[in-house]
Amino acid sequence: MELNEEFFPYLGERFSSHQDIIQFVKTSGSDLPGVPDSSIDFVFSFDTFVHLERRVVGKYLSEICRVLRHGGVGVLHHADQNRTEAPHRSNITDRIMKGLVEKAGLELICQEPVPTNFRHYDEDCLTVFTKL
Ligand SMILES: C[S@@+](CC[C@H](N)C(=O)[O-])C[C@H]1O[C@@H](n2cnc3c(N)ncnc32)[C@H](O)[C@@H]1O
Repeated sequence: MELNEEFFPYLGERFSSHQDIIQFVKTSGSDLPGVPDSSIDFVFSFDTFVHLERRVVGKYLSEICRVLRHGGVGVLHHADQNRTEAPHRSNITDRIMKGLVEKAGLELICQEPVPTNFRHYDEDCLTVFTKL
């Protein structure tokens, strides 16, 4: 899922040996178009949600709840303003993310700090959740 479809040719080349199992889909910025309800076992995102504003993250979490199967799991890498001054991070904390996960109808499993690539003591957060 990507906002800028101009990346797709590069990604197609980069992952050419996995063409049969990868599909590139253009999002309008907060949706998962064409992904059927309850069809996905695992959702993962790295280095994208760190930039997304709270409203957009909330919309994506509703979409993720829609497409996840019961028992499916999500892992999202996002900003945590309590732990970092790294640039280009959205105004989200682990507590805000927990609230957004629950508001979307998902169940929080755990949250873990992860290092940023900015300074060794700046940290983002990984939030893990499931759909009961
Ligand atoms: C820092 S890059 C990380 C890309 C990739 N996840 C990686 O780790 O190499 C952030 C990506 O998020 C995409 N992006 C920005 N806003 C988005 C949105 N609302 N929905 C989906 N993708 C978005 C950008 O086009 C860019 O490709």
